[in-house]
Amino acid sequence: MKILMVCLGNICRSPLAEGILTDKIKAAKLDWQVDSAGTGGWHVGELPDRRSIAIARQHGIDISGQRCRQIQQNDFTDFDLILTMDKANQRDVERLAPTAEHRAKVRQILNFVQPNSDAEVPDPYYDNRFA
Ligand code: 4NP
Repeated sequence: MKILMVCLGNICRSPLAEGILTDKIKAAKLDWQVDSAGTGGWHVGELPDRRSIAIARQHGIDISGQRCRQIQQNDFTDFDLILTMDKANQRDVERLAPTAEHRAKVRQILNFVQPNSDAEVPDPYYDNRFA
């Protein structure tokens, strides 16, 4: 199973989602792969936001080895599931999907917790709500 976590900047939410799932995959000894990307390209090549690195570290997870990248067309074929953090990410990634089959791989992550709610992981970049 290959899962891609997607948010807007790929420096706050999706790096944490990648780090958390990577930790759980390791604990469960599963042969799964996870990566993350942003719909926007402003921070490409950068480390995750220092506030995300800090909150992950508080939970025993090191995400400082990640580097920001933007979602690209081959991600739709390379990954089985593409999990978005909010409605805008969902809409933006669906628009990039080359076919209906690829579009069906794109899901808003919190719908796995609260089915059909379209609940969002709020963007913490400006309001500083990382905890
Ligand atoms: P993220 O947060 O989507 O959770 O990584 C953001 C990071 C950067 C920006 C927006 C959101 N930005 O506009 O640069």
